Amino acid sequence: MVVVAILAAGRGTRMKSHIPKVLHSLGGRSLIERVVESVKPLSPSRQMVIVGYQAVEVQAAMQSILNLEFVEQTVQLGTGHAIQQLLPHLEGYTGDLLVLSGDVPLLRTESLRQLLQTHQEHQRAATILTAHVTNPKGYGRVFCNGENIVQQIVEDKDCTPEQKQNCRINAGIYCFRWQELEKILPHLQTNNAQKEYYLTDAVSQMESVMAVDLEDDQEIMGINDRLQLATAYEILQKRIKEKWMAAGVTLIDPASITIDDTVQLQPDVIIEPQTHLRGSTVIETGCRIGPGSLIENSQLGENVTVLYSVVTDSNVQAGTRIGPYANLRSHVEVGVGCRVGNFVELKNTQLGDRSNVAHLSYLGDMTTGNYVNIGAGTITANYDGVKKHRTIIGDRTKTGSNSVLVAPLTLGNDVYVAAGSTVTENVSDDCLVIARARQVVKPGWRKKSPEC
Ligand code: UD1
Ligand code: CA
Repeated sequence: MVVVAILAAGRGTRMKSHIPKVLHSLGGRSLIERVVESVKPLSPSRQMVIVGYQAVEVQAAMQSILNLEFVEQTVQLGTGHAIQQLLPHLEGYTGDLLVLSGDVPLLRTESLRQLLQTHQEHQRAATILTAHVTNPKGYGRVFCNGENIVQQIVEDKDCTPEQKQNCRINAGIYCFRWQELEKILPHLQTNNAQKEYYLTDAVSQMESVMAVDLEDDQEIMGINDRLQLATAYEILQKRIKEKWMAAGVTLIDPASITIDDTVQLQPDVIIEPQTHLRGSTVIETGCRIGPGSLIENSQLGENVTVLYSVVTDSNVQAGTRIGPYANLRSHVEVGVGCRVGNFVELKNTQLGDRSNVAHLSYLGDMTTGNYVNIGAGTITANYDGVKKHRTIIGDRTKTGSNSVLVAPLTLGNDVYVAAGSTVTENVSDDCLVIARARQVVKPGWRKKSPEC
C-alpha cells in the first residue's frame, strides 16, 4: 500500500512570479498536474498535496482532478516541515509514503514504479532517487557507501567546496516506510544555511536508506527558475517529437515545431516548419500542416491541408484545404472537401460539404448547406451592437463578391446574391437577389458641369 505526498507549498522565489511555481505551465499543463499524472497509474491509496503559498489558487487550479487531499502548510519552513504536516493525517498508517516534488515534472511513471519495487524488495527504511549529473549546482548532494547506502545528504548551500565536487544529486523523490519516518520527523533541527527543516536531514538520520540511480538524469530536473522551465520544455519537446517520428509522422525542421503532449497524430501526417500543435488537437492521416500554422484544440480529418493559418477549437473534415492566411477562430465546423482561403475569418460557423469561401471574408454565426460558394469579400453583419444573430444559407447558394449579409437572415437553396448586395431580408429557394443601387451612367456629364 502506498500513499503519495506532493510538495507544493513553496513560493518558488527564483521564478520571480506572482503565480505559485507549481502552477507554471509546461507545454500546456501545470508542473503539478504533470506530477499528479505520473503517479496515477500506480493507483495510490491516498494522494495528498501539501499547499501553502497561494494555497487557494493551487487548490482551485486542481479542482477537476479527482481524489486529491489538500494539506495546508501555513508557513513554509522547509521540506521537512512540509512533511511534518502529514503527521496528524497519517496516524496509525503502516504502509509506504512516496514523496514527490511539485516542481519535478519530467519524471516517468516507470521510474517511480522501479523506485517502489526496489524499496519493497530490499525492505529499507527509505529508498531515494539519485542521479549523476555534470552540473549539480543547486541540488542536494548524496553521499553513499559502496553498497549505495546513503550516509548523508548535504544541500548545495551547506556544502564545503570538496562536497560540491560530488555529482551524485538528490532528485527530491523518496519512498519512506512511514512508521520509520514519523519517529524522526518531530526531531528535525534548522541548523543549516537556510534555517529550514530539511526533509533530507530526516533521510540522513535514518539507518539503511538506499539510493537508486536513474538511467535518464533529465527526468529528475527540478524547476526553480525560468531558465530551467525553458530547458524542461526542450526536453519534453524532444521526447514528444521522437515519439511521433517513431510512429510515422514526418516533421520537417523539428526544431522549429512545437507539439503539446496532449496532441494525437496519425501516421503519414506531415508537419512543416514553424508549426505549433496545442491542446486536445487530433490530426488524421495524410494531413499536411504548415508551414507557419497554429492548431489548437481542433480535429482535422484525413488529407486536410493547412497553410499559414490558425485553427482554434474547431473541426475540419477530410480533404479540406485551409489557407493561406485563414483564421478559424472558434467553434467552426468545416465539411468534407471544402476550401477556406486567403484572409478568411470564420467564427461559430458551420460550412457544409464541398463549399468554398476562398477570399477576403468574415463569416460569423453562420450555417451553410452543401456546395455553397461564398464570393470574395462576403461579410456577415452578425452583430447589432447588443446581440449576435445567425445567417443560414441553403445548398448550392452563391454569394457575389462584396455581399453583406445582415443577420438574422435566411437564404434558401439555389439562391444567387448579386455582387455588391446588402441583403437584409430572407430570400426563398431558387431566386436571384439584387440589393444595391442600379448603375446610372451620365454621358458627357463633365463638360456640362460649370465647375469642371
Ligand atoms: C530540494 C532538496 C534537494 C534536492 C532538490 C531536488 C531539501 C531540503 N532539498 O531542494 O536535496 O536536490 O529538492 O529538486 O529537501 N516546499 C514545500 N514547503 C516548504 C518548502 C518547500 O512544500 O516549506 C516544496 C516546494 O514547493 C517544492 C519542493 O518542496 O515543490 C522542493 O522545494 P525547493 O525549495 O524547491 O527545494 P530545493 O532547494 O530545490
Ligand atoms: Ca526545487
